[in-house]
Amino acid sequence: MLIKSLVGGACTLIGAATALRFAPVEVKAQAAARLHSTVRKSHLVQQANMRIELVPALSDNYMYLLIDEDSKEAAIVDPVEPIKVVEAVRKHGVKLTTVLTTHHHWDHAGGNEKMVKLMPGLKVYGGDDRVDAITKKVSHSNSFKLGSLNVKCLFTPCHTTGHICYYVTKENSSEPPAVFTGDTLFVAGCGKFFEGTAEQMYKALIEILGRLPPETRVYCGHEYTVSNLKFARHVEPHNEVIQKKLAWAKEKCSDGEPTIPSTLADEFTFNPFMRVKEKSVQDHVKQTDPIETMRSLRKEKDSFRVPKE
Ligand SMILES: *[C@@H]1O[C@H](CO)[C@@H](O)[C@H](O)[C@H]1NC(C)=O
Ligand SMILES: [Zn+2]
Repeated sequence: MLIKSLVGGACTLIGAATALRFAPVEVKAQAAARLHSTVRKSHLVQQANMRIELVPALSDNYMYLLIDEDSKEAAIVDPVEPIKVVEAVRKHGVKLTTVLTTHHHWDHAGGNEKMVKLMPGLKVYGGDDRVDAITKKVSHSNSFKLGSLNVKCLFTPCHTTGHICYYVTKENSSEPPAVFTGDTLFVAGCGKFFEGTAEQMYKALIEILGRLPPETRVYCGHEYTVSNLKFARHVEPHNEVIQKKLAWAKEKCSDGEPTIPSTLADEFTFNPFMRVKEKSVQDHVKQTDPIETMRSLRKEKDSFRVPKE
């Protein structure tokens, strides 16, 4: 039981580290082995038009290998651990041509230099001059092909001033599109406003991402789902969707499995930052305006103490 509680992966990593300090040596060794190996499993989302492998990195980041099924051309989103990327590319037998960088923070762009050394000739996309090894600076609505897939850049400044989300579609496909949201939209949460305002996050979440097709699958930069849902539950204690999603996410996390992807339609049911027009969310922060609600929610979450359960 103790071991079980220590191997929650990204969901309980901080708790685990604290618990470990007081654990017997053998428990520490076992738990450490689990923490560094099987705790966070990779996961494959297979569609007829595209394949996406979720590759866990660092303590709670995700890298995403995106493969065009027609041409076997591939892109990697935020390759902070390039060796793992090379392994995944070999495993799938695909041709990696492209790096998609969501933003310049070290845990997203910090592997770019090594990535291009390991696989020379890669195109490196990003929306910020601070992105390491950038070769293609993009802005809002720029689009390009990855084999037969279309990649559209969505400029979503706020977490950083140059943040880009990448929206991937295939013409005439009946399967859902994908959006890689970095640290703008998380499952049940959003990124901190390090370089921006509530107005900008409102625009990013509600007017840009929120207007993509509801079935769009959301692939975000971190595994923060459990703690985000605990905040969501605090905001809307009577929202049953949040309770159910939290129970599901805890189960996933304790098995080392990702809680990603979600869909935009789902985000509108449990993510407080996507629900700033809902009366229940506005009432919690005593606001009536969606942008003021966004501002108050972020401020509250910045100092929210995540409960153990
Ligand atoms: C998509 O469908 C339209 C209408 O049927 C057709 O004209 C077009 O060539 C198709 N595009 C692709 C890439 O198959
Ligand atoms: Zn970041």
